[in-house]
Amino acid sequence: MKAVTWQGKRNVSVDNVPDPTIQEPTDAIIRVTSTAICGSDLHLYEILGPYMAKGDILGHEPMGIVEEVGSAVTNLKVGDRVVIPFNISCGHCFMCTHGLQSQCETTQVHEHGSGAALLGYSSLYGSVPGGQAEYLRVPFADYGPVKVGSELPDERYLYLSDILPTAWQGVQYADVPKDGVLAVYGLGPVGQFVARIGRYLGHRVIAVEPVAERREMAERHGIETMDFTDGTVEELRSMTDGRGPDAVVDAVGMEAHGSPGGYFAQQAVGVLPDKLAQKVMETAGRDRVSVLHSAVDAVRRGGTLSLSGVYGGTATPMPLLTMFDKQIQVRMGQCNVRRWTDELLPIVEEPSDPLGVMDLMTHEVPIDDAPAAYENFQKKTDGTIKVVLKPQGLSV
Ligand SMILES: NC(=O)c1ccc[n+]([C@@H]2O[C@H](COP(=O)([O-])OP(=O)(O)OC[C@H]3O[C@@H](n4cnc5c(N)ncnc54)[C@H](O)[C@@H]3O)[C@@H](O)[C@H]2O)c1
Ligand SMILES: [Zn+2]
Ligand SMILES: [Zn+2]
Repeated sequence: MKAVTWQGKRNVSVDNVPDPTIQEPTDAIIRVTSTAICGSDLHLYEILGPYMAKGDILGHEPMGIVEEVGSAVTNLKVGDRVVIPFNISCGHCFMCTHGLQSQCETTQVHEHGSGAALLGYSSLYGSVPGGQAEYLRVPFADYGPVKVGSELPDERYLYLSDILPTAWQGVQYADVPKDGVLAVYGLGPVGQFVARIGRYLGHRVIAVEPVAERREMAERHGIETMDFTDGTVEELRSMTDGRGPDAVVDAVGMEAHGSPGGYFAQQAVGVLPDKLAQKVMETAGRDRVSVLHSAVDAVRRGGTLSLSGVYGGTATPMPLLTMFDKQIQVRMGQCNVRRWTDELLPIVEEPSDPLGVMDLMTHEVPIDDAPAAYENFQKKTDGTIKVVLKPQGLSV
């Protein structure tokens, strides 16, 4: 089959690889009809290279049709249409039964001290072959897959695999008070949904994003926007009675623009051999902190900071004096996808499309075009906001 594979820093290719097979009774194989590229894939593309091996299959936002099921999979049958969560979780351990599927005790990656294994997400998360491919082996298919209807297009459902529950969790964790103001940094796909969910739940939402067309997309959904500048914090305060927003979601993460120190530290690690780079990242790794620090500064005293963007530094400096003095609450983490999908499924099916899931994808392309799509998504060229790859062809 064809699959998108990691070949090195800023280098992916589409290769012929062996078809996946059932390996455990709880596995299923799906034929992938749509599979998105995520901001998290960009971290693998650039910074997390030391944890990737040449040939690793990328992708963790797939949906498709069940082709085959293992003997223990009684909840699915061949032909079912399913969305596959990016976390691999068992559904019955302590963590899964407490709504912490991203910490599943059955699939945690002990070698790196990581939480639940993830599809297509480096050795840090188990080196599981990912979903940017014609076919995908789905581990723990007796729990993970979300069955969906057959009428509506893939675009309605696809984002349940990751970014929609991620954004939902980000807003839940932000704990915005009634009549409160939510600020969102970043209007990539995750930030778009964070902002729209904030509106859907009745909050005023102000978003900060440097790319004009991403701000325009958000404005179509009733969101106030601004560029990221030296004056961002002041501007946010002046819009919120001088106090700052009640809650802030960081939907940017470790590759924020405007952090020269962190940028050079990340690039320096990138030229080391993998083993050495891993050692440096595990002892002295730095994130780019412009957004994190701006968010701490902006949020009102006693407010909440919710991190949806991924951070990976082990020695990232944090302004603890300010955080303590302002009594800020901070919540974060990988999304617990299955915790939220039952709540979200009826919302994405509503005819009025209240979260605008049909207004996110900017590019729908054959899988062969993945290398160019990755490049455009990273550089934000060709108006790229969300790319969906179609491994079975554009008409499926
Ligand atoms: N927690 C989870 O489970 C989870 C799941 C999916 C994605 N993520 C993370 O969410 C983040 C966003 O993902 P995405 O798919 O939206 O990707 P993306 O890269 O398209 O989004 C990042 C956005 O942040 C903007 N940005 C950069 N610097 C900024 C700054 N200084 N101020 C404001 N905005 C700035 C970029 O222009 C871009 O629009 C990534 O870190 C990704 O890894 C986390
Ligand atoms: Zn993702
Ligand atoms: Zn579990």
